Amino acid sequence: MWTRRGFLRVGGALGAAAWIGKGSGSLKAVEAASAAAADRTPEDVAQDEFYWREIQEAFTLDRTLINLNNGNTCPSPRVVHEACKRYMDMSNMLPVHYRSQAESHLQTVRRGLAKEFGCDEDEIALTRNASESLQIVQMGLDLKPGDEVITTEQDYPRMLTTWDQRMRRDKIKVTRIQFPVPTTADDLYSRFERAITPQTRVFHFCHITNLTGQLFPVQRLSRLARSKGIVTVVDGAHAIAHFPFKLHELECDYYGVSLHKWLLAPIGNGMLYVRRENIPKLWPMQAVPERQMNSIRKFEAIGTYPTAIRASVAEALAFHQAIGADRKAARLRYLTMRWANELKKNPRVKILSSLEPGQTWGLAMVGIDGVDTRALSQFMMDRYRIVINAVVGGQPPAQVFDYTGLRVTPNVYTTLQEIDTFVDAMQDALKNGVAASNTRGRTGAD
Ligand SMILES: Cc1ncc(COP(=O)(O)O)c(C=O)c1O
Repeated sequence: MWTRRGFLRVGGALGAAAWIGKGSGSLKAVEAASAAAADRTPEDVAQDEFYWREIQEAFTLDRTLINLNNGNTCPSPRVVHEACKRYMDMSNMLPVHYRSQAESHLQTVRRGLAKEFGCDEDEIALTRNASESLQIVQMGLDLKPGDEVITTEQDYPRMLTTWDQRMRRDKIKVTRIQFPVPTTADDLYSRFERAITPQTRVFHFCHITNLTGQLFPVQRLSRLARSKGIVTVVDGAHAIAHFPFKLHELECDYYGVSLHKWLLAPIGNGMLYVRRENIPKLWPMQAVPERQMNSIRKFEAIGTYPTAIRASVAEALAFHQAIGADRKAARLRYLTMRWANELKKNPRVKILSSLEPGQTWGLAMVGIDGVDTRALSQFMMDRYRIVINAVVGGQPPAQVFDYTGLRVTPNVYTTLQEIDTFVDAMQDALKNGVAASNTRGRTGAD
């Protein structure tokens, strides 16, 4: 909320002079705002609209639309987008020269990512997206007929498809376990534990799912797996740069992410983490000479690609760090709790994500009893210009789940007014219903 107290607090801490000349919305301005807030808790800053105004200014958005589908892809801040354009222009001057120069500088990007997300730079490969990262692992593991992969019915459709293809091609066995939402870490742990057989070689699960944001106990599952000689493949598409954690602390074997989601990097960026001792054992998707088999760079050998997109991850990382992982997570949670606390008062509203602290940040699902979810998402667009994803129960071979709702994914640039408009729209739907005019929403989510 824009309060006088908030204004005085920010104004007093920073001093008007510090704001002048920083260029509102610039990286410097964001850094200055964060420096001024350094002695306050992330939860306190999460409620300070003067601080978040500075972040909102850093984006070039179409504010005639309210984007609550940041879970698909997010706009990059201006500083990132401009860097990308600059690298594109530079590369185009003489691609063979500048492209390879940019490529050799990518070590800075890897080093920055490794430091921020808690691993070593020679354990991460830059990829084009989470699909590529995870498929490198799924296709690259040596598995023989009869070997079993345990995954869940609510894992990402493309990743399930990849295992299904290996099942058809290599005669492996794929077991998908189901779970209710929201559920607990203990429940998820025991479902995996019970599913283990002597043939189990792989656990594949999301850090948080793309549907309801269900959080998995990655470290506990990784320890369980390792104690039984099972490897862990973790889908972190929605986790990295969304809430704070360190990769080494998860203790998993493989971790694939998108950087064009919560890190706000340009579209076409992903990352693969491979625990050091696994690197020689995992085949790359595109072949490399034998001498490269021990190097993490073998996973980056994909031929010619746009280095500009990759190079500008450095700016996205700088922007993420300028806000600070804790402040960002606290703000995303604050935005979620703002709509959830209001809507949960109505008994017809079903919130399918845990609202407990440490479980949910900027991705949560809500449905209304008796209201068709696809029609609801269409209503959101038609009446309120809200872009939001309808999630409707899927069937095999895709994800399988029996719930339905809107997946609500705000971002650091989302205003309280936008969240309140969503609440108003839901209240309107609860009171007046929605015309099931057409079905713009679709099964599943991104
Ligand atoms: C859980 C999950 N895994 C994997 C992916 C694939 O990500 P990408 O589109 O970056 O390849 C997504 C995309 O939405 C996802 O939500």
